[in-house]
Amino acid sequence: MEAEEAYRSRERTVLVVIVVLASVAVSSLLVAFSYYCYIRNKVSKRLKDRQRDDNEGKGGFQNLQVAAEKGLQVFTFKQLHSATAGFSKSNVVGHGGFGLVYRGVLNDGRKVAIKLMDQAGKQGEDEFQVEVELLGRLHSPYLLALVGYCSDNNHKLLVYEFMANGGLQEHLYPVSSTSSISLKLDWETRLRIALEAAKGLEYLHEHVSPPVIHRDFKSSNILLDKNFHAKVSDFGLAKLGSEKAGGYVSTRVLGTQGYVAPEYALTGHLTTKSDVYSYGIVLLELLTGRVPVDMKRPPGEGVLVSWALPRLTDRDKVVEIMDPALQGQYSLKEVIQVAAIAVMCVQPEADYRPLMADVVQSLVPLVKAYRSSSKVGSCSSFQVKSPTTHDFGKASV
Ligand SMILES: Nc1ncnc2c1ncn2[C@@H]1O[C@H](COP(=O)(O)OP(=O)(O)OP(=O)(O)O)[C@@H](O)[C@H]1O
Ligand SMILES: [Mg+2]
Repeated sequence: MEAEEAYRSRERTVLVVIVVLASVAVSSLLVAFSYYCYIRNKVSKRLKDRQRDDNEGKGGFQNLQVAAEKGLQVFTFKQLHSATAGFSKSNVVGHGGFGLVYRGVLNDGRKVAIKLMDQAGKQGEDEFQVEVELLGRLHSPYLLALVGYCSDNNHKLLVYEFMANGGLQEHLYPVSSTSSISLKLDWETRLRIALEAAKGLEYLHEHVSPPVIHRDFKSSNILLDKNFHAKVSDFGLAKLGSEKAGGYVSTRVLGTQGYVAPEYALTGHLTTKSDVYSYGIVLLELLTGRVPVDMKRPPGEGVLVSWALPRLTDRDKVVEIMDPALQGQYSLKEVIQVAAIAVMCVQPEADYRPLMADVVQSLVPLVKAYRSSSKVGSCSSFQVKSPTTHDFGKASV
């Protein structure tokens, strides 16, 4: 009897031990499984973040391969080396954030501009990819055409149509302490450049779906051909915009000091209206012949937009801001009209800024008024006009 009791008690103990061991094993399994899920979530989140960062850098454009099928030529480094006489110093036409820009002649005799990437790293690579992908898809007479590219091992080069008169800023003010400008652009040419650049942005914002936000619109990214016709260049920072009304895309703030819209600088919220602000700054450069930011100017004049804004809305003072090189070439009526467009474009409130289509509509009649005199754009000798009543009546809006 006693033996049976002892046996039962041992059996119970074994049972308890088994149950305890089983619960420990199940709990361990549960803990291990939860840990596995936690790690898996973390890894997938990290991968997603990385993918988003990559896309952000690329402005949402992937798939470089597509570009080759879109009529872009793929060059070898050797071909571009010989097109520029071995990247000779004498062929350098400029230097920007991407690297040196060379003048070159291709085998078929075409003149091109070749940008050689000197900035190793992700930013440069992303800009290269966006430029190729985007310019392979967009075509407008107001956008600089990409002829092709080279992506040989460590070498990244972009090949563009050649713009004989370089960047707009070089014709408005000296761009470095050593550079000088002998002749500035005349009024009529400035008006036409303003219109052509506006048409370039209008195409990006309103004729492409989803809209493309340039994000680095500035005078050095408006290039001039041999007849001073303008094309918008440099899409390395471009971004696809939101298709929703009032929508925006959130991005890291990139761009150039003096041109960045206040809401974009503060919040990183990017819309096509951010480009409209930058366009307004370029209009101010065209009117005044001044750099957007130059703290060496007298107190109060350092930031172009702050200095110009109160004068732009005052018809008695607006002439004070005008580039002295333009004296006698414009009518007050024209200046007031262009000043009004500039004021609208640089409104601090993005919603109050016009669409680029509105800007184009406002500039067309001003430029048309000059067409009858049909002078090819130039920065040649200025024809000083006395402001007669006829001049004041010229613009038809
Ligand atoms: N297609 C081109 N034809 C002729 N000259 C060009 C061409 N592209 C660029 N350049 C010249 O090279 C200069 C530098 O251009 P680049 O776009 O590299 O720099 P940036 O516009 O000054 O600055 P960022 O790198 O910020 O755009 C221009 O100002 C212009 O004079
Ligand atoms: Mg540029």
